[in-house]
Amino acid sequence: MRRMMRLTRALSVPRRSAAWVKEPSVTTAANTRISGRSIDVFMDNSIWLLPVFINYRVNSTVNLQSFFSVEGPRNMTQTIGIIGSGLVGKALAHLAIAAGYNVVISNSRGPESLAGLVKALGPQARAGSVEEAIAAADIVSLSLPLAVFQALPGDGFAGKVVLDQTNYYPGIGGFRRADLDNGELTSSELIQRHLKGAKVVKGVHNLGWIHMQHNARPKGDAERTTLPIAGDDTAAKQTVTRFIEAIGYNVVDAGSLADSWRIEPNTPIYFWPYAPTLADDLSDDEAKRAYQKSGKPLSPHAARQLIATAQRPSPIGGTLEGMPPIHIALFLEQASSATVQS
Ligand SMILES: NC(=O)c1ccc[n+]([C@@H]2O[C@H](COP(=O)([O-])OP(=O)(O)OC[C@H]3O[C@@H](n4cnc5c(N)ncnc54)[C@H](OP(=O)(O)O)[C@@H]3O)[C@@H](O)[C@H]2O)c1
Repeated sequence: MRRMMRLTRALSVPRRSAAWVKEPSVTTAANTRISGRSIDVFMDNSIWLLPVFINYRVNSTVNLQSFFSVEGPRNMTQTIGIIGSGLVGKALAHLAIAAGYNVVISNSRGPESLAGLVKALGPQARAGSVEEAIAAADIVSLSLPLAVFQALPGDGFAGKVVLDQTNYYPGIGGFRRADLDNGELTSSELIQRHLKGAKVVKGVHNLGWIHMQHNARPKGDAERTTLPIAGDDTAAKQTVTRFIEAIGYNVVDAGSLADSWRIEPNTPIYFWPYAPTLADDLSDDEAKRAYQKSGKPLSPHAARQLIATAQRPSPIGGTLEGMPPIHIALFLEQASSATVQS
């Protein structure tokens, strides 16, 4: 609450809602003008937006304006269609909205199940079916488990730019494929094959959902870090690069979808560069708090070096043992029950 009040003063914007009390699903809002447009900046009382704003070290509306007007959608407001409303889908939605995009978010249970989330996200967001999210999107984000990729309407993506945030964790969700295990295909090539005519770009997949929020920084911030992308379509890569830059990251090109094994789980640029180093002697509570911070920033040069030195992991794919126990603990607490069961 005190942090929220300090943030309000720092933002120097009028407080529109009186609901600044810490309660589940209470949404607070500030209204500010960005690039001549009036934008509602919503902060639900979950972990989502507040750390983003703290991380940006916003202490004046000028910073917000330069952040959004330099990097945000240029002429027309673009729409990000998000398939999957779990940890990653929500994190991406909050980042996209903070950067001035519209969001249409979907999941397996239908738009009605997303009423609370959409309220928390504010007027730039709406819920839709998977098909509606695809239709409305300038960029469609796949924020659902790779294990269910065949549930995606393969013929419904023609011409769409697709941001593939999925990762292969063999056996998770009962999903395992020989063509992925033997390196015949990368997981993003598998997605590309299924989504006929789509322009798939792998990205925003290689850091934990918590760290998507905590590492985001405006352009020019000394602590801004770097994310890799990979894809086969140059224009689609440019579109995705602009989006990722707008939500708070530098971007480097890791090559084609066939090359994307260099940025898959168990490679040097996967996960660890974006997570903070935790001391060994922390209690669980201390570790959870300490974990909700950014890693050391990775420069574009350093990111390129990590990608260049990657060796194809053997076996291919991620493992839960390869992640910090605190990440798994938080994931099991917060991921959707279907994912946890699987
Ligand atoms: N967790 C991380 O830190 C992290 C980081 C980077 C990338 N990723 C990748 O991001 C993806 C999502 O991970 P997550 O942690 O966000 O999982 P999650 O919290 O369990 O969320 C999964 C979401 O996918 C939705 N979904 C499942 N089947 C669907 C279908 N057939 N159609 C539409 N939506 C469907 C679920 O819908 P319901 O809510 O209706 O069940 C849920 O909203 C995974 O591929 C993961 O590898 C995860």
